[in-house]
Amino acid sequence: MLRLRPYKSADAKTILSWVKDEKSFHQWCADRLGNYPPSAETLNAHYEEGAMLPFTAYDESGLVGHFFLRFMNEEKTSIRIGFVIVDSAKRGKGYGKQMIQLALKYAFEFLQAENVSLGVFENNPAAYRCYKAAGFKDLPTTHVCHLLGEDWNCLELDCNRTDWQL
Ligand SMILES: CC(C)(COP(=O)(O)OP(=O)(O)OC[C@H]1O[C@@H](n2cnc3c(N)ncnc32)[C@H](O)[C@@H]1OP(=O)(O)O)[C@@H](O)C(=O)NCCC(=O)NCCS
Repeated sequence: MLRLRPYKSADAKTILSWVKDEKSFHQWCADRLGNYPPSAETLNAHYEEGAMLPFTAYDESGLVGHFFLRFMNEEKTSIRIGFVIVDSAKRGKGYGKQMIQLALKYAFEFLQAENVSLGVFENNPAAYRCYKAAGFKDLPTTHVCHLLGEDWNCLELDCNRTDWQL
């Protein structure tokens, strides 16, 4: 059974080993962790600022995935999810969808959020499908990020408490 626990700095090396090339590195974290390849120190420094709640997903097979939650407003009712990743050897088995569903449950039930949002690059259909399968809906807003010498369209998705409860 997939479970969540708080991220520990010792998880960084394993999580980063799931990022296999420069394009998938930027699809995962945009430009937030500098240049490829990322170091464990960089990821840990990112979280040491304290603004994010990073999680590690695990089951009997070991570490399975990772993501963070971040409050987007003072009332802490709006949450952003980011750095979503599943072990490269365990993709396509339903873990991503399950992990996002656990993240939504945590955000809505424990953190009492009203809304959870995220951004996903259009050139990342696996991630887009995973979020849609977990209950996210498309927003009309998009923006462009300049990465690897190209313009990447970033789609905005969100999930409201009311939709999630249905
Ligand atoms: C995105 C990611 C977390 C998805 O995890 P996963 O465990 O492979 O996804 P799942 O097996 O749970 O699949 C979820 C849904 O996405 C679909 N999907 C999965 N991989 C797919 C692919 N390569 N192409 C199209 N659809 C795909 C599945 O069919 C499933 O849809 P369904 O429930 O309607 O059948 C994983 O691919 C990953 O870690 N990618 C690298 C990091 C990254 O890009 N993160 C996104 C940052 S925004």
